[in-house]
Amino acid sequence: MSTLPPNATTQTTRKKITTLAFRLKKERGESIAMLTGYDYPTALVLDQAGIDAILVGDSLGMVVLGYENTLPVTMDEMLHHCRAVARGVRAALLIGDMPFMSYQVSTEEAIRNAGRFLQQGGMEAVKLEGGRERLNAIRAIIGAGIPVMGHLGLTPQSVNLLGGFRPQGRTAITAERLFEDAILLEEAGCFSLVLESVPARLARMVSKRLTIPTIGIGAGEGCDGQVLVTHDILGLFDRFTPKFVRKYADLHTEMLNAITSYIADVQGHIFPAKEHTVEMPDEEWEAFIHHFDRQIQRHE
Ligand code: KIV
Repeated sequence: MSTLPPNATTQTTRKKITTLAFRLKKERGESIAMLTGYDYPTALVLDQAGIDAILVGDSLGMVVLGYENTLPVTMDEMLHHCRAVARGVRAALLIGDMPFMSYQVSTEEAIRNAGRFLQQGGMEAVKLEGGRERLNAIRAIIGAGIPVMGHLGLTPQSVNLLGGFRPQGRTAITAERLFEDAILLEEAGCFSLVLESVPARLARMVSKRLTIPTIGIGAGEGCDGQVLVTHDILGLFDRFTPKFVRKYADLHTEMLNAITSYIADVQGHIFPAKEHTVEMPDEEWEAFIHHFDRQIQRHE
């Protein structure tokens, strides 16, 4: 009998999700489920559960590498995690998050770094943050044949400019700018757009106006899909939990319990038990002891 939960699919039965499938889902009114992934075992679970897309987010800088924010994350760190995720996935669309300073300096660098996500990281698309100021880079990357997901609203790589991790688009002027940026990103050729921490009614209006799917994070249910940081929903990152996160598990506590039990078992000589131990045949042991005794006698 299968031990899979009802929604889970076997990796062989699921069709590959492409950027075109993203668009078709929006046309059919089917909501897109996306999560972040940073390693092989989690990628296996996400894909088996039936997730549509996995974002190897630069949030890994905070939730996996322990940095204060996403700014220190490098291309090499991103590619290391992308490769691990790609090894575990058959069906989900794989999106690599371009880290701070990998696409801002010049369009040439932006194309080269986006290309590395596909050539060296096993990704199928990239995501980058920003609106009108990023149009040249976005057009150039798409011109090189690489699908781009945009990201507007709270863009964590601009945390210093925004004055903290704060909701965006809450005034008429900033809402108008965000709305215009969303249209510009669609016109530039983005296949999808993340809207992070923006008012739900603004996100709904943007989603209605665009033909490409919007993926919300803290942007309400009017978006065409949702994304969250996997470590947040599993309760694996306890430095802080954003208001828009629903926690589906408390793995931090589960891990703490498991590890304290292991320590207690080792200290109490309860682990390893007989079934965890390798043995050798008695006659081999006796021959060894015999040989050993003779060696000792010779040296006496
Ligand atoms: O880095 C990330 O995980 C992200 C998502 C939160 C959208 O950008």
